[in-house]
Amino acid sequence: MDILVINGPNLNMLGIREPDIYGKETYTSLIEKIEAYAEKKNVNVKCYQSNHEGDLVDVIQFAYGVYDGIVINPGAYTHTSIAILDALKAVGIPAVEVHISDVDAREDFRKISYVRQACFETISGKGTDGYLLAIDSLIKKMKQ
Ligand code: DQA
Repeated sequence: MDILVINGPNLNMLGIREPDIYGKETYTSLIEKIEAYAEKKNVNVKCYQSNHEGDLVDVIQFAYGVYDGIVINPGAYTHTSIAILDALKAVGIPAVEVHISDVDAREDFRKISYVRQACFETISGKGTDGYLLAIDSLIKKMKQ
């Protein structure tokens, strides 16, 4: 099983950006944690991060026919991007939306998620463990 983990804008700043909201774990240690977990679960994982909406659309398109599942934290594009929603719908790869913080408990504008429509599950407010829970959900989904 091949899983693509996509992180959007500012997630490369983990550990530096608003640690009271996103924690002190760095992006590098998040990737190490995801890779170690995937190895334990016997899945191949590739992690990708970009600050650019078009790059995120491109990587979702490239995933077509290559990956069995997508874990996506689109960062602020969650709340604005119809292009990312359409890309996920276009490829039709089972996807899980992840947010480190509890987006529903924050500002009203964070309660809107466009990508949610194309994801079979949303994991929000579980910190970086949310990425691991998303991998578990994809494994479970593949077994169905
Ligand atoms: C986020 C929540 C978004 O509202 C925010 O713009 C982010 C990170 C999260 O992981 O909690 O960049 O997706």
